[in-house]
Amino acid sequence: MKANYSAPGKVILFGEHAVVYGEPAIAVAVDKRTTCKVVQAEEETTVNGYPIDKDYHSYILEALRCVDIDSPLKIVTKSDVPSGAGMGSSAAVTVATLASLHHISGDLKEERLAREAFNVEWTVQGSASPIDTSTSTHGNAVMLSKDKEEDFLWSISREGKEWNIHHRDIPEMQMVIGDTGVHARTGPLVDKVRRFYMNNNFAKEIIEEIGNIVIEGSKALAGENLERVGELMDRNHELLTILGVSHPKLERLVKGARKYSYGAKLTGAGGGGSMVAVTDDPEKVARVIKRRGGTPYIIDTTGEGVSEN
Ligand code: PMV
Repeated sequence: MKANYSAPGKVILFGEHAVVYGEPAIAVAVDKRTTCKVVQAEEETTVNGYPIDKDYHSYILEALRCVDIDSPLKIVTKSDVPSGAGMGSSAAVTVATLASLHHISGDLKEERLAREAFNVEWTVQGSASPIDTSTSTHGNAVMLSKDKEEDFLWSISREGKEWNIHHRDIPEMQMVIGDTGVHARTGPLVDKVRRFYMNNNFAKEIIEEIGNIVIEGSKALAGENLERVGELMDRNHELLTILGVSHPKLERLVKGARKYSYGAKLTGAGGGGSMVAVTDDPEKVARVIKRRGGTPYIIDTTGEGVSEN
């Protein structure tokens, strides 16, 4: 009894936060991955040599609840997806773990994996969208939307909301992520936006405008129009700033990166975390990010989803 799977992190190009309310969003899988190896253990279930713990291993513990495996397990994870950086590290560990566990229980299907991984994230971190978990499962680029469109993969629903998940081809483009080093948790940021959204029509309009940007962004990506992609990323960033999820360090990195980019925006939940830039000169953007106190990652969007090692 053994299994070894890996799953990628992701970067959200358009639509974070608005996607929680059913607006569309687009994310791309990146070449940073989390690996989860599982073998049978003698006495108790351990994670990376420690007894499994509800505080430290909450995603893995929830993933274990999805499968029917009686024996104790030795679980070893390894990740090069930076955590708390808006790159979907919790989704990657959840998807890789579920894949290994389902391999053992003999029932591994992409769609089921994506659905269960979403439920795990929801249970651990509260209200969320399936964007991270579906992108980590499928790889490539993924678009979530209210309606079923071309290249439909699966749909996921929860508490009256339904997201349709689609495969998207994206043009070859170079991206740089800039990690502010300020670690912010997704749940409280989603809650902050929710309070704004519930009490304020202006916030609802912002969310809707983000939705429109995603649709325009999808067309620009399909047409390989990177100037337009960049313009829309910039606007998406301004709207996220109005929603209150930017951070002074993000602003510094975004402004610096824009000098050598088509566009730049925060990516993921914000409040710190990371920004992403689309550029023809990744080395230059990486240098600016470093000079401004961030950690740059030049990203390859090779795009493989969950896979066996
Ligand atoms: O912080 P991340 O990278 O997990 O991204 C969160 C994206 C949100 O739209 C803010 C929340 C969600 O689950 O969609």
